[in-house]
Amino acid sequence: MWDERYSSEEYAYGTQPNEFLAANFADITRGRVLSLAEGEGRNAVFLAQQGFSVTAVDSSLVGLAKAKKLADKHGVSIELVHADLADYDLGESKWDGIISIFNPLPSALRAQLHNQVVGALKANGVFLLEAYTPKQLQFATGGGNSLDVMQSKESLQAELKALEFTHLLELERIVVEGIYHTGKGAVVQAIACKTL
Ligand SMILES: C[S@@+](CC[C@H](N)C(=O)[O-])C[C@H]1O[C@@H](n2cnc3c(N)ncnc32)[C@H](O)[C@@H]1O
Repeated sequence: MWDERYSSEEYAYGTQPNEFLAANFADITRGRVLSLAEGEGRNAVFLAQQGFSVTAVDSSLVGLAKAKKLADKHGVSIELVHADLADYDLGESKWDGIISIFNPLPSALRAQLHNQVVGALKANGVFLLEAYTPKQLQFATGGGNSLDVMQSKESLQAELKALEFTHLLELERIVVEGIYHTGKGAVVQAIACKTL
């Protein structure tokens, strides 16, 4: 599905970074950042431009090829990893930041991944996420139609108990991020720190 979505010249989610990430990336210490389900590179390229060393993981080869093209266009370098997040080893105490922007994983896989996120962050590392909530099914402005992939404050608190949330909010906002995310959306936003 994703290879097909990414097969046109156009960037499905645009080339500008996610708005929540752009407003809050400074919460992450300049260092190594892992982007989960990066897609076509808009967020990874933005972070590389801000001086981060970025690793971007996605299961779509077509998306990763477009990420490389976008990085080249902007004269930055990002590490691109082709992997299914079901199999990807995030490592231990490795990342200053991990980001997850509109990452539509089935809930069981997501819980397993979030469990790994805790161990994979360095001390004081930051996890930053924006995702659609169940209410998004009413808006149908992006994010598909599966309730199982939607997230909420409660799911994040349960899956990331070991982190300290500095921001956790469900809100409705106008999302204008490419042709597949355009219009009023219901999202949850999180910034959480590994203080242990
Ligand atoms: C809605 S797109 C968002 C892409 C990007 N995060 C953004 O905001 O521009 C979802 C992405 O998740 C990726 N994805 C879905 N399931 C995945 C999995 N199991 N492992 C790795 N990537 C996955 C898709 O290939 C796609 O690029």
